[in-house]
Amino acid sequence: MKIAIIGGTGRQGFGLALRLAASGMEVLIGSRVREKAAEKARELAEKLAARGVEAQERVTGLDNFAAAREAEIVFMTVPYPAGREIAASLKEVLKGKIFVDISVPLKSFNPPEVEMPPEGSAAEEIQALLGEEVRVVGAFKAVSSHALANLERPVESDVLLCGDDPAAKEEVKAVCERLGLRAFDAGGLRSARTTERLAALLIGLNQRYKRRAIGIRLTGT
Ligand SMILES: NC(=O)c1ccc[n+]([C@@H]2O[C@H](COP(=O)([O-])OP(=O)(O)OC[C@H]3O[C@@H](n4cnc5c(N)ncnc54)[C@H](OP(=O)(O)O)[C@@H]3O)[C@@H](O)[C@H]2O)c1
Repeated sequence: MKIAIIGGTGRQGFGLALRLAASGMEVLIGSRVREKAAEKARELAEKLAARGVEAQERVTGLDNFAAAREAEIVFMTVPYPAGREIAASLKEVLKGKIFVDISVPLKSFNPPEVEMPPEGSAAEEIQALLGEEVRVVGAFKAVSSHALANLERPVESDVLLCGDDPAAKEEVKAVCERLGLRAFDAGGLRSARTTERLAALLIGLNQRYKRRAIGIRLTGT
């Protein structure tokens, strides 16, 4: 399966790309600048090669549009609100595809505060913008990029999936499980109102305790 990561050159996107490629998936790193994506793809392949994993053949750097067009599932890891414009530019090639929105609508980073759009959450805003033909799932909002990038350790955080298309959530859950992550159906897309706020809470905890990978794990499951 081919997975595109729009903004895969950044912290969250690169961490995800690393895990996906390490698990044997085909990854298309997307960027506004193709050469930047190609550079990151090389860096990723080198990192995995150093661990004895040959991934060069299945990691490619492309511009965001080409990455979204070629992929079956498209993740987006760009800062809010830049993602709105980028997602809108990809609308035509996203039809029928799963679009995993990871953005958190932060108004400030320290202290971390969200400012929700009129639709209720960044994920709902993206769904409204892309229309019903795109299957939006909000996920990974409360998973730290540091945890994703550190291949020495499994990611301890659980993934909370929000979306109005149950089959799309199941597919994203399967991808998470392939990465060794537990994923839970957290309800409809409007649950992203909670997961996006939770992400801000976790940023605050990381700041206060001088950590980088504090996340959440469900108990009693
Ligand atoms: N970092 C985390 O631990 C974490 C955790 C959960 C959720 N998130 C969310 O994931 C998203 C990305 O966070 P990040 O920490 O990965 O950000 P980042 O390191 O700044 O990377 C973002 C990437 O987005 C692209 N981009 C597109 N438009 C941009 C713009 N106007 N300004 C800056 N970059 C732009 C850039 O790629 P090109 O220049 O190659 O196009 C950049 O490499 C955010 O919405 C954040 O809230 C992050």
